[in-house]
Amino acid sequence: MAKNTVKLPGQVPSHIAIIMDGNGRWAQARGLPRLAGHHAGTENLRRVITACVDFGIQYLTIYAFSTENWGRPFEEVQGLMGILEDVIDRELKELDSQGVQLRHLGRLDGIKPSLRQKVNNAVEKTKNNSRLVLCIGFNYGGRDEIVCAIQNLIKDGIKPEDVTEELVSQYLFTAGVPDPDLIIRTSGELRGSNFLIWQGAYSEWYFPATYWPDFDKQELQRALEEYSKRDRRYGKVSP
Ligand code: FPP
Repeated sequence: MAKNTVKLPGQVPSHIAIIMDGNGRWAQARGLPRLAGHHAGTENLRRVITACVDFGIQYLTIYAFSTENWGRPFEEVQGLMGILEDVIDRELKELDSQGVQLRHLGRLDGIKPSLRQKVNNAVEKTKNNSRLVLCIGFNYGGRDEIVCAIQNLIKDGIKPEDVTEELVSQYLFTAGVPDPDLIIRTSGELRGSNFLIWQGAYSEWYFPATYWPDFDKQELQRALEEYSKRDRRYGKVSP
């Protein structure tokens, strides 16, 4: 990966989160099976990771498989599981050597043991890297994450009066990761789809029409330029 070579005007987000939408339509438009779109989307992810490093982004979170995606056709679900496994097999060494820390967001129960083990191993192997933190939402749902946090708060015997926003944040899959500054959803769909619903409370959103496999570095730069013009007020007023 190149060093931080790109100068951007204004504020650069520390954390970008992406709903990588439009793989299916990208494939359909080319007369290809949906899975070909997911493979093209995976190739694009490599490029976007590199671009994020170039732009000096510190955290990148991607929505790779939602708790609702289990309802997709069997072959597509299997295909997406296979893609995650292949990505770990093929890319772990390279990602590790580039200083990328991998984090998993979601529940690992429900995922086959061999894949679960690979995910845990990838997280463990890269835990001391700090160039870019890449959080992968896989079997992730924002509501499920909050349910899981509540279950663990109760299991830990936390008293109701001790429950604060900060404490809840520490029980989420994203514990220790700052909230996303910018959430991008490609493909023109204007929904949040159960993604980072707690963490995204004050995120800026950006909705390019481009399908995910075509969302390149130039498009990312456009998103960052748009972000740099936003006035983030967090419910207050501008000074
Ligand atoms: C949404 O497009 C995309 C997904 C549900 C899967 C995204 C997954 C990848 C790009 C693979 C990522 C890599 C890892 C690390 C596993 P869609 O299928 O809903 O597109 P459509 O709306 O056009 O049908």
